[in-house]
Amino acid sequence: MRGRGFRVRHVLLALVAGLSFTAGAAPDARAKARTQARVEALLSAMTLEEKLGQLQQLDGFSEGHPRAEHATMIRQGRLGSTLNVRGAKTTNELQRIAMEQSRLGIPVLFAFDVIHGYRTIFPVPLAETATWDPTIAERAAHVAAIESTAVGLKWTFAPMVDIARDPRWGRIVEGSGEDPYLGSLFARARVKGFQGDDMAAPDRVMACAKHWVGYGAGEGGRDYNTTEISEHALREVYFPPFKAAVEAGVGTFMSAFNDLNGVPATANPFTLRRILKEQWNFDGFVVSDYESVKETIAHGLAADAKDAARYSLLAGLDMEMVSRTYAEHLPALLDEGEVAMTAVDDAVRRILTKKAELGLFERPYTDESREARDLDRPEYHRLAREAAGKSVVLLKNERDVLPLRKSLGSVALIGPLANDKQAPLGSWLGDGRSEPVVTVLEGLRAKLPGANRVRFVKGVEVEGSGLDQIEQAVEAAKASDVAVLVLGERSDMSGEAASRSRIDLPGRQQDLLRAVLATGKPVVLVLMSGRPLALEWEVANTPAVVQAWFGGTQAGHGLADVLMGDLEPHGKLPVTFPRAVGQIPIYYNHKNTGRPPDPNNKYSSKYIDLSSDPLFPFGYGLTYSKFELADLKIENTEIRAGEPVRASVKITNSGIRRATEVVQLYLRDHAASVTRPVKELKAYRRVYLEPGETKLVTFELAYTELGFHDRDMRYVVEPGMFSLIAGLHSATGLESTFRLLKAR
Ligand code: GLC
Repeated sequence: MRGRGFRVRHVLLALVAGLSFTAGAAPDARAKARTQARVEALLSAMTLEEKLGQLQQLDGFSEGHPRAEHATMIRQGRLGSTLNVRGAKTTNELQRIAMEQSRLGIPVLFAFDVIHGYRTIFPVPLAETATWDPTIAERAAHVAAIESTAVGLKWTFAPMVDIARDPRWGRIVEGSGEDPYLGSLFARARVKGFQGDDMAAPDRVMACAKHWVGYGAGEGGRDYNTTEISEHALREVYFPPFKAAVEAGVGTFMSAFNDLNGVPATANPFTLRRILKEQWNFDGFVVSDYESVKETIAHGLAADAKDAARYSLLAGLDMEMVSRTYAEHLPALLDEGEVAMTAVDDAVRRILTKKAELGLFERPYTDESREARDLDRPEYHRLAREAAGKSVVLLKNERDVLPLRKSLGSVALIGPLANDKQAPLGSWLGDGRSEPVVTVLEGLRAKLPGANRVRFVKGVEVEGSGLDQIEQAVEAAKASDVAVLVLGERSDMSGEAASRSRIDLPGRQQDLLRAVLATGKPVVLVLMSGRPLALEWEVANTPAVVQAWFGGTQAGHGLADVLMGDLEPHGKLPVTFPRAVGQIPIYYNHKNTGRPPDPNNKYSSKYIDLSSDPLFPFGYGLTYSKFELADLKIENTEIRAGEPVRASVKITNSGIRRATEVVQLYLRDHAASVTRPVKELKAYRRVYLEPGETKLVTFELAYTELGFHDRDMRYVVEPGMFSLIAGLHSATGLESTFRLLKAR
């Protein structure tokens, strides 16, 4: 039945056809102009109901099916986007309704949380950041985009770029840790990996920088909790990874759940409009988090749903996820003059522009044959294994217990996570399946074939005391050359709504470790978790410790590659590991205070019952060799405004194995009009050195990298004394000073 709608659409298409719209071309000036013309033409033909339909996103079932009302709403032009709906056949059916049965033929935008892989699951983002290799993150995001587009998706709610300084917060697992510089590198890499140079390409999706902003600073590390963050801290710490995402061309942002300085982030005109859309000139659109528009009522900002719609739209929130306050209340708000149609049109325009840049008007459908050939490919698993292995951080290795020798007789593999196929997938596991997950047991058995070379005993559960095989674990350890314990958290103990008040080993895992240590056998502790754990006793009493995080589909092979020495340890911590939960917040780029911690001065900023130092600092990670830094030199110890700072340092592999290390360069500004952190990461270089080899590593910092936001929030560089610190982690290093001269 081809009614009026059909005619209107064809008139429209005729109208814009002359623009010979070139979808898919990277939106250069000409293409942008054509897109704008097409969007304006559509906008002028849209009814209010159709406009509000573009501002509405609804969720499908978690398995991927749409809800019954979706088809009808799409046909009526009342639904512009879905989340969770996926599968090429399913999305094509709904898209056909949009393109052929709706009045204007505006394509639907199908979205899903593809955070660290769609079907091939990569290490959780915090683990992937521990590689300190943004190219791995970019390649992994591209694989995720290939798999996602094969099932009809064109938008992912990733990367999550929230800075996190509180490991009680479960969502620390989803981001890049505590550092703005490292977080910015990974934000840029992941956006590039998802979007490529042209997100209309059939193997690319639109990315979404989330959660804008300050979500990781929730009081008490409690998810969704209140945040009070000074504008200075926002600009210095929390904004940079989002700014990097904008500079990388990210198509969308997602507003955060939290109340930010008394104004919920989803209805916050300062962050949504003034910073993002005006100061940063962001041309994409902002989607709310799940019902976070309606939640402005619970926050105590909006009096009711109508008020919620008014606050959010006026603040600059474009698309409403799942709650329906815009569709239900904007017509009245428009009639009453509470909001202007220009505000609605701006939101619709942004959304239509991104749909056009995604090429959805020209290529709305998915090639259904792709699902059978573009998912789970061997090359993806090779990358997943490389990422898993390089994310492993060697935290301790006394008496060279590691790497395990291939000649060893047998290994007792013990622990509730040693043969767990679910945990390595982590939280936000996309459409990942547990069956193909390579467990630690399978990874080790692949390295040590033969009966009884790897004896597995679960020992205890992660939580509770339902299982007691401690005796069997002790017997297995006694019968073996070495014991490898895989302890930590289940994957549902981090991620959304999974904050912990304690960050120790749950259940009876420490009892299991104590019993195995008592055998006197060499013990390797493998930690599987989505957050730093505070394990002062465990680390002090175990000769070898590695942080394996949740390594994804290939976790077991990646870890075994490192444990058996087939892959050198690469990992460096992207986040500080505290000694105790009482130290939180604890992070490396802290201020000095007027009384910096001094064990010899009672009246200094410290605890009377615990060191102020972390268990492991940001940037920490050992290798199977030994490295020394020497001769930090600053080429120009007096610089003038505009001049770069050039430095070099020598690194030597003084061990007996080829190995890799990350030389980190930190900056300190000793005196400024706003107090500055004791150090900030500004650059790093990974080197691979043969035993005895020395390499000269050079750095150049641009003049602007010496800057900060002053009391008036202007970005400034102030004269005075600076230090460069070259180190293998953030706690210590070689230090040398230079002076920035006053302008003449
Ligand atoms: C969730 C998360 C957000 C996710 C969204 C859609 O509540 O906060 O990160 O993208 O809802 O699933």
